[in-house]
Amino acid sequence: MPLSKPMQEALNDQIREEFTAFYLYLSMSAHCEASNFPGFARWLRSQALEEQGHALRIFDYVQDRGGTVALQAIPQPAHQWPALLALFEQARDHERKVTASIHRLYEIAAAEKDYGSHAFLEWFLTEQIEEEKTSTQMVDTLRMAGDHPGALLMLDREAGARTAAEEGGGAE
Ligand code: FEO
Repeated sequence: MPLSKPMQEALNDQIREEFTAFYLYLSMSAHCEASNFPGFARWLRSQALEEQGHALRIFDYVQDRGGTVALQAIPQPAHQWPALLALFEQARDHERKVTASIHRLYEIAAAEKDYGSHAFLEWFLTEQIEEEKTSTQMVDTLRMAGDHPGALLMLDREAGARTAAEEGGGAE
């Protein structure tokens, strides 16, 4: 069964959302690198690549269903943040926004009786639970660290080490 027009449009919108997240995280990574937080920079760069993966997952799905991919413009992300806490609050808020848009996709899939898309979207729902949890934890620990340079450096090191372990490699 080919994709319905509303489903195809919503999936194309979601590709844009995922690339928007990719761009935002990449910009955040650059900011952290320039601010001497290489651990957070590495973590954010890894998040960016995950978002690119999400976009490509939908890109492939639209094509597998015989639909048309129509890429849209990606908004320019911010490139400066007053503090790490503000940066991670934006990341968490963005994840919440992505979750809401996945929920909207579910509603369209249900309205269109598109059970294939329903099954496809399940992976994203689970992924969003994890991403919201991780970004919320980042915000909470940064809030506890406050303005203490020692605590911030320790969290930076931890974020870098965790990313290296997840990527299965040591320091680059
Ligand atoms: Fe793909 Fe973090 O949303």
